[in-house]
Parts: sequence; structure tokens; C-alpha cells
Amino acid sequence: MTTLPTKRALVTGGGGAIGRASSLIFAREGARVAVVDVSLDAAAETARLVNRAGGEAIPLVADVRDDAQAARAVDEAAVRLGGIDVLFNNAGIMSHEDRSVLDGDEELWREIHDVNLFGTMRFSKHAAPHIEAAGGGAIVNMSSFLAVLGCSAPQDAYTASKGAIASLTRSMAVQLGPRQIRVNALAPGPIATAHVEQFFPDPEARSLRLARFPLGRFGRPEDVGELACFVASDAASWLTGQVIVLDGGSSCNYL
Ligand SMILES: NC(=O)c1ccc[n+]([C@@H]2O[C@H](COP(=O)([O-])OP(=O)(O)OC[C@H]3O[C@@H](n4cnc5c(N)ncnc54)[C@H](O)[C@@H]3O)[C@@H](O)[C@H]2O)c1
Repeated sequence: MTTLPTKRALVTGGGGAIGRASSLIFAREGARVAVVDVSLDAAAETARLVNRAGGEAIPLVADVRDDAQAARAVDEAAVRLGGIDVLFNNAGIMSHEDRSVLDGDEELWREIHDVNLFGTMRFSKHAAPHIEAAGGGAIVNMSSFLAVLGCSAPQDAYTASKGAIASLTRSMAVQLGPRQIRVNALAPGPIATAHVEQFFPDPEARSLRLARFPLGRFGRPEDVGELACFVASDAASWLTGQVIVLDGGSSCNYL
């Protein structure tokens, strides 16, 4: 039995590591997927992989920083999929220039918030009426374990944006619950993507960080995709307003 049968899902940032793994898992579980990304090539590659695996996906290009593009992508997804039941607000950026609040660069803070937080707001605003029209469904936001933890190697603009998404998730859950739209957020620890690996340039830095992980490894994009799939599914029908940390146990580990 599949967990997302007949669902129609829109995944932002669907061309990236977690978005691609999630799209493949959603489709494996029976959903038809609109893969939205600022890069059409990346979205098209995800859709190709989904279709090759026997699923059904369409690629759509949109920049989450642009409200008109967000509206257009949501409407096109709704027309081509015949509605929307699930929105995964996964698109997000981090920057190697992002450090402490003490030397915060306002332009960088705006850029990171425009994608991570405002992108979540824009797609939610446009997709919620479609999800309501479908009789209800789920919005899954993408936070980070940095929303609940400080970090001695700070990325404060990113952290603040993900903390805001966690708060927004709870408020959205309260507002949208009466419309039968559940809203939850995932708060992953480091996922072993090429981008994150750049933070650990040498084996010593990597193993120092890994020592904090009781399970002895960083996450995989599929770890996040499987949880997103469960949270989006009817199996989680009483789950809303939660920020779910998945981090291999690192936030429990006082070293
Ligand atoms: N990788 C991690 O360790 C980790 C940990 C916690 C949370 N996250 C979050 O998970 C999400 C996905 O991360 P990932 O590791 O797959 O990153 P990624 O860089 O592989 O994928 C992000 C995708 O978003 C797209 N994107 C970026 N800006 C966009 C825009 N303006 N409009 C539309 N699409 C845009 C990119 O083209 C890319 O395909 C992000 O929100 C990230 O903050 C990642």
C-alpha cells in the first residue's frame, strides 16, 4: 500500500538534493508531483528521474522570490495536476558569507530571508486556496535544527530565517486548521549534500563534527524525503503545528 495515493504535490526547490529525493519518494508513494525550481534544467532532471522510475512529474520553473512567478507556478500545477493536496516549501539557500549577527550583512540577510521565509509565505498564500478546494491537505515547511540550536560556527541569517519558518508554521497551523490544512515543518540537521560537505573541508573537521552524532553519520536527502512523505500523508492526519527535528540525535548530545 502506498502512503500518498491520488495526491497531487508541489515541491519547491525540487531540482535540489532534498527536493529531488522527496519528489522521487512522493511519486513512489503514489503522488503526482509538480517539481518547481528556479533552474528549469534541475526541475526537468528531477521530473525525468521520477518518470523513468514509473511515477508522474512535471517540471515548472519559478523563482520563489517573485510573487507573480509563485502564483503562476501554483496555478499551472493546479491545472496540470487537476488540483493540489500537498505543498512542500523546500526551496532554500545558505551562504558561506553568512556568519555572526555581529558582522551581519543586511543585503545577504534580505536575500536569504527573501528565498527561505518569503518564498514559503508566497507559495503558501497561493497554494492554500487550492488545497482547501481539494477538501484539505498538508503544507510541509522546511526549517532546520538551527531553529532550535545555537551554533559555534554561526550562520545567523540562515538560522533566523529557519527560526521564523518554525514560528510561522505554528501560526499557519492554527489559521489553516479549520480549512483542514495541516501545517508542519521539518528541522533537519546536516544532510550530506555537496553544499554541506564544503563546510567540512578536511577529515579532521568532519570527524570532529561527526562525533556529535550518536548514529555516526550525517543525514541523507532520502531521510528527509521519507519524513516529508509521512507528514504530508493521511497517516499523519492529526499532526499539525509541529517542528520535527531529524538530526541523527545530535541535538540530544551534550559533549
Ligand atoms: N542540506 C542540509 O544539510 C539541510 C539541513 C537543514 C535544512 N535544509 C534545507 O532543505 C532545503 C533543501 O536543501 P538542499 O540541501 O536540498 O539544497 P540544494 O541547494 O541542493 O537545493 C535547493 C534547491 O532550491 C532551488 N532554489 C534556490 N533558490 C531558489 C529560488 N529563488 N526559487 C526557486 N528555487 C530555488 C535551487 O535551485 C535548488 O535546486 C533548504 O530549504 C535547506 O535550507 C538543508
